[in-house]
Amino acid sequence: MNIAVLGSGVVGRSLSSKLIERGHDVVIGTRDVDELLARPEVAGGWVAPFSEWYRNNDSVDLATFSEAAERGEIIFNATAGGGTLDALKLAGEDNLDGKILVDISNPLDFSHGMPPTLFVCNTESLAEQIQQAFPGARVVKTLNTLTASLMVDPASLAGGDHHVFVSSDDGDAKERVVQLLKNDFGWKEVIDLGDLKTARAAEMLLPMWLALINALGTPTFNFKVVR
Ligand SMILES: NC(=O)c1ccc[n+]([C@@H]2O[C@H](COP(=O)([O-])OP(=O)(O)OC[C@H]3O[C@@H](n4cnc5c(N)ncnc54)[C@H](OP(=O)(O)O)[C@@H]3O)[C@@H](O)[C@H]2O)c1
Repeated sequence: MNIAVLGSGVVGRSLSSKLIERGHDVVIGTRDVDELLARPEVAGGWVAPFSEWYRNNDSVDLATFSEAAERGEIIFNATAGGGTLDALKLAGEDNLDGKILVDISNPLDFSHGMPPTLFVCNTESLAEQIQQAFPGARVVKTLNTLTASLMVDPASLAGGDHHVFVSSDDGDAKERVVQLLKNDFGWKEVIDLGDLKTARAAEMLLPMWLALINALGTPTFNFKVVR
């Protein structure tokens, strides 16, 4: 399947490597291909320069947000929350129309320092803002509640005995994403939270997730719901 991954950060890279390994054709979307390839390391040095990752993952294509979205049959949104609506505008409404848009973003506002706050919460979510701005897209919220490496390799932690959540107003799109999570990424435990309004809850887990990173000294953990 042709899959577009909008986002060149650690999430976009992790998803792309895994999807290539699973036999999909993957194109990463970015604002400016040349600028990205020339960019030095980001995030204070703990994220390697994109060009370094790309040298080792040259089966992945690289294109503008618009070209990538046009080619993708399924589109992943792995852009920074504050830039997500702008990134999707660049991707182009026509290129999103009728397609599954898997939204992994979080509405984090870093402008007041650490820890970040949520720029939308309680009565709305970033996922719903995306759906409202692009009504033809079939938005499915998932994977935003855990670190990038675990998204595509849940079995590496506790044998995969932990949970990921999905929310969408489109039942068919949600089911297809659940199948992709299971078949391509190896998820055993997927909790269907319900319609897209429930993405508010998934996004509002972020303050807890960030507090746990501080408390545990690692991002390599996940939530497990015990009944
Ligand atoms: N890091 C994790 O482990 C993790 C875990 C769960 C969820 N998430 C969520 O996943 C998303 C991606 O996270 P990340 O750490 O991989 O990368 P990130 O640094 O949050 O986002 C990088 C991507 O966002 C794009 N971007 C940033 N500002 C933009 C703007 N103003 N307009 C358009 N595009 C913009 C960048 O475009 P360029 O390519 O042009 O630079 C890049 O592709 C975030 O929403 C994050 O909250 C991350």
